[in-house]
Amino acid sequence: MSNTFLNRLTNTISTEKLEQICLEHLSTPYSTGIYIGLEGGNGCGKTTQKEFLGKYFKEKKLNVIYTFEPGGDDIANDIRKVVQVNEYNISMSSLTNVLLYASSRSQTTNTLIEEQLKKKGVCISDRTYVSSIAFQHYGQGVPLNIVLMINAIAVGEVVPDIIINLDIDPRVGITRCSKDERDKWEEEDLNFHDKIRQGYLDISKKLSNMYNVDASGSIEQVKSQIIRLIESNESLMKKINNYTLGL
Ligand SMILES: Nc1ncnc2c1ncn2[C@@H]1O[C@H](COP(=O)(O)OP(=O)(O)O)[C@@H](O)[C@H]1O
Ligand SMILES: [Mg+2]
Repeated sequence: MSNTFLNRLTNTISTEKLEQICLEHLSTPYSTGIYIGLEGGNGCGKTTQKEFLGKYFKEKKLNVIYTFEPGGDDIANDIRKVVQVNEYNISMSSLTNVLLYASSRSQTTNTLIEEQLKKKGVCISDRTYVSSIAFQHYGQGVPLNIVLMINAIAVGEVVPDIIINLDIDPRVGITRCSKDERDKWEEEDLNFHDKIRQGYLDISKKLSNMYNVDASGSIEQVKSQIIRLIESNESLMKKINNYTLGL
């Protein structure tokens, strides 16, 4: 992707520095509330584990909302219809994908998610900006600094405490998915989905709020790995304990 504006920018501040600033920003959790993002390819277990995690927090008497991307309110749901399905006889550019996913994300993070976090509630989200890094950068080849900058602007301060990548071989994930759960990315070949999987693993090394879980085991095994990750996160546990006590 050639972009003279970006070239001028990266002549002033190096691509590495730009990426570093964005990665730091996108690793710095929102100050209040508990925001958890679940990531990974289709069929890895996001929807299944979202329910379990919700129960875990409800048992601690915390208020829980569930969100998903793209979508969440009337505007974001309409953006979802445009970006997630493939009903056009022209192809959507990779940059349009970045911008549309970020638009939906911005719409919900800066409204319903931020409101929930301000009230010290819990938000569990099915996908986050990490999906855009995986699909649009690692999958579609949009430069990382572009994906990071657009998403840092889109989410502002509303960054998850923890993002959990449910890592699974796409060959296994696809067999778990029913036909009506499949989106336009399912039309891509296995090579594309392997790149996405590797992309998730690569970016997790650069985002300090992101962790990987082996999602190939049973639902119970994945669940206990997720709970273990949460309970070993000191700053997150401090928040959970304080909110449980009504502090
Ligand atoms: N660890 C697991 N082992 C076997 N099947 C699973 C596991 N986790 C989820 N499933 C099943 O696989 C299907 C897809 O899971 P889902 O949670 O909808 O994945 P996602 O939301 O990531 O696409 C569901 O039918 C679910 O019951
Ligand atoms: Mg799902």
